[in-house]
Amino acid sequence: MLEQIQAELVDRLLRHIDDGTTDIAHETVEWSIDAYRDADIHQRELDTIFRHSPVIVAHVGQLQSPGDYVADDVYGIPYLVVRQASGEIRGFVNLCRHRGTRLADVGSRKAVAEGFTCPWHGWRYGLSGDLCGIPDQQRGFPDIDTENRGLLPLYTEVRHGFVWLTPESVGTRTVADHLGPLDHEFAAVGMENYTFYEQSRAATRFNWKLGIEAFLETYHFRWLHPAMKKYVFAPDLSLVDRLGDHVRLVAPKKSVLDNRALQQQDRRIREHATIAYVIFPSTVLFLEKRHITVMSMRPAGPESCDVHFLHIVEEDTLGRRAYWDDNIGKFMEAAAEDFGVLELAQDGMGRAGRMLIPGYETVLFGRNEHGLRFFRDSVDAALQARIET
Ligand code: FES
Ligand SMILES: [Fe+2]
Repeated sequence: MLEQIQAELVDRLLRHIDDGTTDIAHETVEWSIDAYRDADIHQRELDTIFRHSPVIVAHVGQLQSPGDYVADDVYGIPYLVVRQASGEIRGFVNLCRHRGTRLADVGSRKAVAEGFTCPWHGWRYGLSGDLCGIPDQQRGFPDIDTENRGLLPLYTEVRHGFVWLTPESVGTRTVADHLGPLDHEFAAVGMENYTFYEQSRAATRFNWKLGIEAFLETYHFRWLHPAMKKYVFAPDLSLVDRLGDHVRLVAPKKSVLDNRALQQQDRRIREHATIAYVIFPSTVLFLEKRHITVMSMRPAGPESCDVHFLHIVEEDTLGRRAYWDDNIGKFMEAAAEDFGVLELAQDGMGRAGRMLIPGYETVLFGRNEHGLRFFRDSVDAALQARIET
């Protein structure tokens, strides 16, 4: 994160502390609950927003040698990203071109030098996705063009130490273009030098937007996360900025006051806050003092999403496993608290096949929750832009 931006953020925080204020909007707003449960809206979001947006699927530390791969699903599409013999990382649809069985097991594996063999009839594919072996081909498939039966490619790019994937074969824009102003901020962090720590996922029962919104306000800290009292400066103090389609939220820790003793240009926020970047549409990157957590909320339906976590840590601290287990464990405990109430909120909004609650058509975003409004404005603008083009 750029030093000048860090110093500016500290100044804003110190001014708020002196004045007893926080970043705030002019008014509260009401939003329809349809966006959290309507199947047509959900389909439109998939087709217009998610199809063209890159999502983080791995850290380069997981894919160091040829044949190292990570396989999982995004919006129902099974993918596979694999390090090539050439050093490049490429992504494919993880489905056999014979009759569509998933090829590589979900998870990550090291050095699969021999490529991938389908568990059903044994078709074989190389690391570059080419079809290189069909059992009993002469008798069964003498007439197919094997060159055109390789694994289907997915647009894949490495940037800032992460592997980004788009569920389309040819990217409509680069990751740098997608990140816009964040690209510059991320470059200064040096995330490519971090070490992969852990990856996990959870199946949840709430709309992806509800999920993202939980990480765009600190208003709920006091009630839902009492354990945070020890290190959060004050639950009602945060900075929220819209940066292109993305949002940055800064939640200071008590130690932010240490900056008072420093010259303006020497002030830093990185050590003294949790900085959450909502990367449009549904990834949150949490920049902590010595580690980074990436959380991607991948919609599975209008009322459900698969949440994927990826943790990376500063290289020289990897040996402190107990420290990280404790640190990351606390984060995951707080996330579990969030997910608990999100599922209750989704229940309140109604699920498919259930009667709607009369009179309950909207939710409120407070003046102190304006990060939510920034985010929803980006979603609406993206849906609108695609409708108009
Ligand atoms: S489905 Fe893969 S070999 Fe038949
Ligand atoms: Fe929370």
